[in-house]
Amino acid sequence: MKTTPRVLSGIQPTGKLHLGNYLGALKNWVAMQDEFPHECYYCIVDLHAVTAPYKPEQFKQNVFDTALDFLAAGLNPEKSAIFIQSHVTEHVELMWLLNTLAPLGLLERMTQFKDKKKQRQAEAVNAGLFNYPVLMAADILIYKATAVPVGDDQLQHLELTRELARKFNHAFGETFPEPEARLTKGARIMSLTNPDNKMSKSDVEKSYVTLDEEPDRIKSKLKKAVTDTGAAGETGPGARNLLTILGVIHPASVPDFEKQAKQGTIRYSDLKTHLAEKLAEYLGPFRARRAELASKPKEVWDLLDTGKEKAAKIAQATLVEVKEKMGFV
Ligand code: TRP
Repeated sequence: MKTTPRVLSGIQPTGKLHLGNYLGALKNWVAMQDEFPHECYYCIVDLHAVTAPYKPEQFKQNVFDTALDFLAAGLNPEKSAIFIQSHVTEHVELMWLLNTLAPLGLLERMTQFKDKKKQRQAEAVNAGLFNYPVLMAADILIYKATAVPVGDDQLQHLELTRELARKFNHAFGETFPEPEARLTKGARIMSLTNPDNKMSKSDVEKSYVTLDEEPDRIKSKLKKAVTDTGAAGETGPGARNLLTILGVIHPASVPDFEKQAKQGTIRYSDLKTHLAEKLAEYLGPFRARRAELASKPKEVWDLLDTGKEKAAKIAQATLVEVKEKMGFV
């Protein structure tokens, strides 16, 4: 089977993206555009987002915010297809077909599903949450993607995707390559207020820094960041998280703080002030680009339309092939 190296990934439109989204995912997506020119498919997975409670009147703004963040971060519509998942309806049709190959037992073992089930009342656990990984598999397989940049929390879903590809190929003939995960290395950014957890939008506002955060707000959020959770003489997870961030955005200033930490002379307030400054500088160009794009909403929506056209072409061809192989009339 001839396969084109191809990349697909997605992020849920739950509002503005934060530093964890950027360093843990988007940054890598941007880099992959040069590795796989014209074969990157990046989508805003709005159909996944509605598996959680959300406000319909805010949904459009959330999608728009995510698109602005994608573009401001450097996703380039000339190199990549940037689009909204629900605009390419073939994803959902393929999901249905893949559902018929997906063993219940496997879906029940998905950690993310089990966690959500635990967090919610039984009646709030909808079937969409259960089938969430099958839709993700369809997102990937509809483009016959070979590489999927994701965080390690998505590895299990990717393994399921590979399993579904194998099952389909076995039952109906070679069709899908088995996509490989491309883990983003070394930048797992934790919550500022609860550094044992990943930085997350569903957490309180002061726990994350959005990509367009104003310098003043960056400063005040960092000021409140938790740093004292380690044992005496040790750098706790909060302080380590700040050093991780600094290591990515301004590595040159890390050794000094590391040394002070070892000697027990580090003043976390200095680290926070310094990091706030560097972070404001680092995010400055991003903020400017984002503001400019925000002033031209029509251009942004048009770009998403162009992305959709590009994506739909591939998705339609795959779906025709799949239905033929499955014997549909
Ligand atoms: N489930 C992913 C997450 O929450 C988002 C996602 C949906 C995705 N479809 C995808 C990621 C396809 C990669 C490929 O992070």
